[in-house]
Amino acid sequence: MSNLITKTTELAMAVTLKYIEQGDTVIDATCGTGQDTVSLAVAVGKEGTVYAFDIQKKALLLTEARLRAHGFSNVRIIPESFVSMRSHIAGGSAAAVVFNLGYLPGGDHSITTTAETTLEGLKCALDTIRPGGIVTVVLYDGHEEGSAEKKQVLEWAESLDTKKYHAAYVSLLNQQNNPPEILWITRKH
Ligand SMILES: C[S@@+](CC[C@H](N)C(=O)[O-])C[C@H]1O[C@@H](n2cnc3c(N)ncnc32)[C@H](O)[C@@H]1O
Repeated sequence: MSNLITKTTELAMAVTLKYIEQGDTVIDATCGTGQDTVSLAVAVGKEGTVYAFDIQKKALLLTEARLRAHGFSNVRIIPESFVSMRSHIAGGSAAAVVFNLGYLPGGDHSITTTAETTLEGLKCALDTIRPGGIVTVVLYDGHEEGSAEKKQVLEWAESLDTKKYHAAYVSLLNQQNNPPEILWITRKH
């Protein structure tokens, strides 16, 4: 087994996969290069569905190409902001919603998630997950927008109703160059 705490993106996905079964519906809110989309597509299997959102053409093309290379047919790519997820997926039906915030690696850094849209998207995600489902957020505070976004997202998560949700936050404490951090929110049964 790889050392999971050294790579937060892998840790974020490893925990998320524990909440997903074959046949489930899940959402990749920011598909980017399609790496997370593929992990989710494997987890839900042929009978399940992944809804993959992104607002950037380059990201959508990268994800399409990666899915084609793997031969997946259980992913619906939606060229829209994640704030529209409620109009595509029934409330209370998804096992997981994954947000990997920030900008596309190697892409245009001006096309990034923002505090305002991310908070709106997270509220949509809480409406969309089923009881026992999870919302996973990978946060980056190494850039200006990401720093403001992280602060607001964590403040919001701290204020969630304790009767309905568990929220957990992971940060690598002794590493350099602002490694990504993780927020998980699970919905109580
Ligand atoms: C860090 S990348 C995602 C990486 C991806 N999970 C992967 O496995 O490669 C962030 C992505 O969020 C996208 N994005 C920014 N704002 C968005 C929004 N409102 N809705 C959906 N995607 C958005 C960007 O275009 C970018 O591709």
